[in-house]
Amino acid sequence: MCSKIILVLMVIFIVTTGGETCHPNDLKALTDFKAGIRYDTSFRLEKWNGSTDCCKWEGILCDNSTGRVLELNLPGLLTLYDAPAQTVMDGQLSPSIALLSSLEVLDLGEVLELKGQIPPLIGNLTKLRKLLLDTNKLSGPIPDSIGKLPKLEELCLKENYFSGSLPFSLGSLRSLKSLDLSSNKFSGSIPDSMENLTDLESLTLQENFLTGHIPNNIGNLRALKELDLSNNFLTGGIPFSMNKLNSISSIFLGNNQLEGEIPFPSSPSQMSSLAFLRLNDNHLTGRLPLFFGHLKSLQRVILDNNQIEGPIDSNFSDLKALTMLYLSRNRFSGKLPRTIGLLSQLQFLDLSYNMIQGPLPLEMSTLTNLQLLDLSFNHLNLSSIPTWLVELPSLFQLHLAGCGIQGEIPGYLERPASILQELDLSDNHITGSIPAWIGSFTSLYLLNLSQNSLASKIPDTVTKLGRLGVLDLHSNRLWGPLNLVFQMQSSGGLTYIDLSDNSFSNDIEQADMGTQQGIQYLNLSHNFLHGKVPTSVGRLQSLQTLDLSYNRFDSVLPESLANASILESLELQNNLFTGRIPDAFLKLTKLKELNLSDNLLSGQIPFGEPLINFPKSSYSGNKGLCGKPLATCSPHSVYPYIT
Ligand SMILES: *[C@@H]1O[C@H](CO)[C@@H](O)[C@H](O)[C@H]1NC(C)=O
Ligand SMILES: *[C@@H]1O[C@H](CO)[C@@H](O)[C@H](O)[C@H]1NC(C)=O
Ligand SMILES: *[C@@H]1O[C@H](CO)[C@@H](O)[C@H](O)[C@H]1NC(C)=O
Ligand SMILES: *[C@@H]1O[C@H](CO)[C@@H](O)[C@H](O)[C@H]1NC(C)=O
Ligand SMILES: *[C@@H]1O[C@H](CO)[C@@H](O)[C@H](O)[C@H]1NC(C)=O
Ligand SMILES: *[C@@H]1O[C@H](CO)[C@@H](O)[C@H](O)[C@H]1NC(C)=O
Ligand SMILES: *[C@@H]1O[C@H](CO)[C@@H](O)[C@H](O)[C@H]1NC(C)=O
Ligand SMILES: *[C@@H]1O[C@H](CO)[C@@H](O)[C@H](O)[C@H]1NC(C)=O
Ligand SMILES: *[C@@H]1O[C@H](CO)[C@@H](O)[C@H](O)[C@H]1NC(C)=O
Ligand SMILES: *[C@@H]1O[C@H](CO)[C@@H](O)[C@H](O)[C@H]1NC(C)=O
Repeated sequence: MCSKIILVLMVIFIVTTGGETCHPNDLKALTDFKAGIRYDTSFRLEKWNGSTDCCKWEGILCDNSTGRVLELNLPGLLTLYDAPAQTVMDGQLSPSIALLSSLEVLDLGEVLELKGQIPPLIGNLTKLRKLLLDTNKLSGPIPDSIGKLPKLEELCLKENYFSGSLPFSLGSLRSLKSLDLSSNKFSGSIPDSMENLTDLESLTLQENFLTGHIPNNIGNLRALKELDLSNNFLTGGIPFSMNKLNSISSIFLGNNQLEGEIPFPSSPSQMSSLAFLRLNDNHLTGRLPLFFGHLKSLQRVILDNNQIEGPIDSNFSDLKALTMLYLSRNRFSGKLPRTIGLLSQLQFLDLSYNMIQGPLPLEMSTLTNLQLLDLSFNHLNLSSIPTWLVELPSLFQLHLAGCGIQGEIPGYLERPASILQELDLSDNHITGSIPAWIGSFTSLYLLNLSQNSLASKIPDTVTKLGRLGVLDLHSNRLWGPLNLVFQMQSSGGLTYIDLSDNSFSNDIEQADMGTQQGIQYLNLSHNFLHGKVPTSVGRLQSLQTLDLSYNRFDSVLPESLANASILESLELQNNLFTGRIPDAFLKLTKLKELNLSDNLLSGQIPFGEPLINFPKSSYSGNKGLCGKPLATCSPHSVYPYIT
């Protein structure tokens, strides 16, 4: 992790009387550096003028006795008048900086637009303690000569375009305490020489293209507190439900492919300082290391998305500091150990998508600090929701999808003024009705009861769910009016509604959708809805996906829909829509998916983008549509205008 050096900009006007000059090499290095920068929004370099005493220049610190430059400190993030200010330097990093032979600190972190490479002669800066070039547009490899910097304590190159393999010489940086190369394009394997970095406290290589095994002797890094070899920077902070919605993962650059078993700790005493361990999104195999339970300083462990197998049979009794344990999407099997109840500080436990078997140990009921519990999609076959689970006092996210839960939603789930924010009971065998007391979950943000056998109306009390953002009730046998849903006044901003594949059969023409300005995803498909689509649908300014397919809407297409200007996906197929396709639909310029097939539409398809770009099957099976992409309209084929 890079230390954020935040400078307070002080504009000091000093009248220099003496004719001090700095060392010619330093002066050349700094003038060349300045010449490489096209612009600098912090205006620090602008003041590098007038005098040849470079020691007085902003961001420069010299040695009092030798006059040589010790520090070049120009980070992009400043504090100006108590507020953070992001400044930008655009230009090429001059190779002349290798002339600053007394330099101890080089900080050009987060100036955002610095390009070029680390000069191969970086090894000349033998006094260097800190080299911070993070969050820029630097590229090329790390020069081998980096290994000649015996005093280097902090090397931070994160968030650049550096590439090539990690030089073996990195292992010679015996003073190194922090190495952050994350979010670059490094490839190849992690050099074995790393085992010699015995003072290293933080090693973060996530989001690169690294392959191969984790070095066997990495357990020798006895000072290590943080190890991150993952590709994932979403964990923590961002609510999980949002991850699932936005599929942010697709924009990740990095994707490490580390494979093989986790080789540490290989003895009970190894890595006793390790607090943060992230190895998620790799191809790691084998079982949890035998001595895993001896990593007594562990606080957060994220091993999601690997192929780790076998039972979670560690003795957890020493992991007194563990707050986060994410083991999701692996191949863990067997029962959970009873010692899991000893993880007294545990707040976040995600075991979803494994093959863990029931029953859950009763000792879990002592996890009073637990805030998130995700046991979805294991082989738990819970049959019912354990009562102790509902009594966990700190729980605010409960995910029990695909847990084999049967019967009705039990009354003991009711909690007056419940703090629950996420409740996912989807893909179970739940029957009966959605209870009216669901309205007492006033903190609820996500409710997912989809893929069950619920057969009831949506209770009026849903309107009390003032924080609801995501409502997924798809694939049940729900029926009755939908107006309620559109009347919900959610301060959290309802963004996602999926009521598809149910038995709703009303006319929703009178529903006022205008209240739901924040809605991005609305799926009412596979129901028996009929009549007109309410005009207010056009007021859904945030709508990206609208699916009304497989219903019985039998009116003209709602022209107002053209006002939903960021719509990307519009599925109206398999209804009884009549009349023409409104010309106004040409305003839907963001549309990527459109399906109007199997309706009773007629007339010419409005000519223009994006409508002419969709395949024929977007329009097929109608009464009389013609024009691109279908056949040209002939006088005979043009169906008379209906609207
Ligand atoms: C030198 O910097 C000062 C501010 O410190 C500025 O006012 C002046 O215009 C600069 N002179 C040149 C020649 O750039
Ligand atoms: C240089 O000298 C000044 C005062 O003489 C002192 O405050 C400062 O700490 C010294 N700096 C270094 C790097 O020795
Ligand atoms: C770097 O060091 C080598 C010898 O170690 C020296 O010959 C060379 O001039 C130095 N280069 C710079 C740019 O300081
Ligand atoms: C680690 O350092 C020792 C002693 O300098 C050396 O013998 C060994 O080869 C180094 N290990 C690696 C993998 O470079
Ligand atoms: C777990 O380890 C502790 C000592 O570290 C020991 O006292 C206890 O018996 C162990 N429990 C199990 C179930 O192995
Ligand atoms: C799940 O549990 C129920 C009741 O305990 C039992 O009848 C059923 O056979 C179990 N199903 C599986 C797949 O183990
Ligand atoms: C609800 O649960 C189903 C089944 O587990 C899942 O496919 C769906 O993505 C979930 N919905 C949301 C909005 O997370
Ligand atoms: C809407 O729901 C149906 C049935 O649940 C599903 O098949 C379809 O993919 C969903 N539509 C969109 C656009 O997500
Ligand atoms: C679409 O928006 C415009 C301007 O924002 C408004 O005048 C018009 O009434 C809206 N049309 C429909 C059908 O809602
Ligand atoms: C549109 O929906 C029909 C089913 O009615 C399907 O056969 C066709 O492939 C879909 N076309 C597109 C472009 O999605």
